[in-house]
Amino acid sequence: MKNIKFEVKLLFWKRKQKENQSYSLDKHNIPTHIAIIMDGNGRWAKKRGLPRTAGHAAGADNLVKIARHAYDLGVKCLTVYAFSTENWKRPEEEVTNLMNLCMKRLPQIVDLMEHRKVSVKFLGDRSRLPEPLVKMIEAEEARTEGFAQTGCYLNIALNYGGRDELVHAVSQIANEVKGNRLSPEQITEEVISSHLYTAHCPDPDLVLRPSGEIRISNFLLWQSAYSEFYYDNILWPDFSEQDLEKAICTYQGRNRRFGGV
Ligand code: IPE
Ligand code: IPE
Ligand code: MG
Repeated sequence: MKNIKFEVKLLFWKRKQKENQSYSLDKHNIPTHIAIIMDGNGRWAKKRGLPRTAGHAAGADNLVKIARHAYDLGVKCLTVYAFSTENWKRPEEEVTNLMNLCMKRLPQIVDLMEHRKVSVKFLGDRSRLPEPLVKMIEAEEARTEGFAQTGCYLNIALNYGGRDELVHAVSQIANEVKGNRLSPEQITEEVISSHLYTAHCPDPDLVLRPSGEIRISNFLLWQSAYSEFYYDNILWPDFSEQDLEKAICTYQGRNRRFGGV
């Protein structure tokens, strides 16, 4: 019995230590653009005997917390993966719930961004999203459009797929060539980048994936060519401000060579 008490105390002490741990970050080497695959909501809920929807709601709460901290640290651009082109394969009930959650939570998230003068953009194919949601995201983008000059962005990837984005860009470029507005010789990497949903932002410096999965899941395929990757076992709703600092600290210890020496 004594031993169990000791173990529990030790566990709490360790957790407290972790919460109080702060990382000494180099203020001059904060990644300009961080992209996050917000994964693990379902497992977070299951661990607590809750429905998956509770996990998604907790994930949305955590986005507010982490976004706030990221901008406080000096991050300029944050891109979060909220719903992929593959997520339509989930049970209809879960998909409907996720769309409703977007309707409910997006205005609050944009309120916070408006307050911080961060411009909000939605990345992805809107044609498959429910009409009221499309109307809402257009209105929310318009609300913060004026902050583009601050260079601070929150990109929310909704019905986003990296391959789908490239198909979309290639089709637009082909149409420009067909209409003699562009010649095939003028197609450069910059031209392709400028036709992507992320044209307004630099490529991500750091891509984070909590939840233990070590894969890209069709996220920012073109843009992450030279990003640093960081994986963590923590489920997204539990991913804390300290975990973000730990990821940035790890990033700052990396040697980015971009193919050079
Ligand atoms: C991420 O969490 C949210 C979405 C993909 C919409 P998941 O729902 O994928 O959570 P897990 O991976 O099942 O735990
Ligand atoms: C990636 O997570 C998509 C989002 C977080 C929105 P998934 O849970 O859909 O990815 P897989 O299925 O594990 O690759
Ligand atoms: Mg998942």
